[in-house]
Amino acid sequence: MKAISIVPHVVGISLVDRQEPRISAPDEVKLRVLQIGICGTDREEVNGGRADAPPGKKELVIGHEMFGRVVETGSGVTAVKPGDYGAFTVRRGCGQCKACLNNRSDMCYTGRYTERGIKGADGYQTPYVVDKEQYLVKIPGKIKDIGVLTEPMSVAAKAIDEALIIQQARISDFDQDKNWLAGKRVMVAGLGPIGLLAAFALRLRGAHVLGLDVVDEATLRPQLLKEIGGSYIDGRKLKPTDIDTTCGEMDFIFEATGVAKLQVQLIDALAPNGIYVITGIPEAGRSITVMGGDIMQQLVLKNQVVLGSVNASLRHFSQAVAYLEQSMQQWPQAISRVITTRVPHTEFETALKNHSPNEIKAVVQWADE
Ligand code: BGC
Repeated sequence: MKAISIVPHVVGISLVDRQEPRISAPDEVKLRVLQIGICGTDREEVNGGRADAPPGKKELVIGHEMFGRVVETGSGVTAVKPGDYGAFTVRRGCGQCKACLNNRSDMCYTGRYTERGIKGADGYQTPYVVDKEQYLVKIPGKIKDIGVLTEPMSVAAKAIDEALIIQQARISDFDQDKNWLAGKRVMVAGLGPIGLLAAFALRLRGAHVLGLDVVDEATLRPQLLKEIGGSYIDGRKLKPTDIDTTCGEMDFIFEATGVAKLQVQLIDALAPNGIYVITGIPEAGRSITVMGGDIMQQLVLKNQVVLGSVNASLRHFSQAVAYLEQSMQQWPQAISRVITTRVPHTEFETALKNHSPNEIKAVVQWADE
């Protein structure tokens, strides 16, 4: 069978031949890959950036945002049956630390985890994949057209979940609101796939969402944001340090730009007791100049939290499926339009190399079912 692969740290991409994987243990599931989403990480890998081949190999099969259909199950599998739709998660634990030993490899302490399609393990850009049932989330057929958004939505779901857990714990003496987000002022910085999907989840939880990007208001990303009841801020017209005085201070900032300077500047917009979650991964090795004293003073005097969030556990994949189901009920047009580009796998190079300004999520199509 064919597979889309790269040589880590070398610019380029090619189609290679791989053996079709087979079920070899009772807890394994084999999926026919239907669609694979493309994200910034894939493009970085193709351009010679962050990626590692499996041990002893030169090439890495890419692709980590998967959606497929079960074709075969091991004798001990109970959660799915052939014909069901589903997606495998991305990260596999180090097998050593407390987090990984408790199914939370997204919080791995040692850094010796692998990630399918990114770090030390082959990915999903190929017609068939096999993995363990414990890494599979079932996806209902009624959202099959957007099932490929499960992985990016899981990243947003984890970041929101972390913020909620922290906020609800530390302010519980004076605020026992079951849904801390309801009515809160939230800024989503960067309306790419992760930011936009976060905006859907945050709106579903009743937050007032302000989306920040640097595109014209009449273009698709701001339009989708407005369709779900959010408001748009054009970052070209407003300095990050003026956001608080112009739009109000933010109880929660969800960052998905990966622009280091902006990531730091946005702290200025945070409200007292506010929380700021960073999900964008900036390029390493670049320095920036910031008003360090002002930032640290503000964080302390206003009890603010800044945290990073990466990857997602199976629980967050299930939350992601629920957010997608609810979005499909509430805003079927808007959530469907997050997928702007679908290309057959034979045109994988076009999909990975071209990135038009109006593209939100591009998807490689391996099979129609
Ligand atoms: C993926 C995550 C992964 C992260 C770091 C992101 O693009 O969605 O699953 O953990 O990259 O490699």
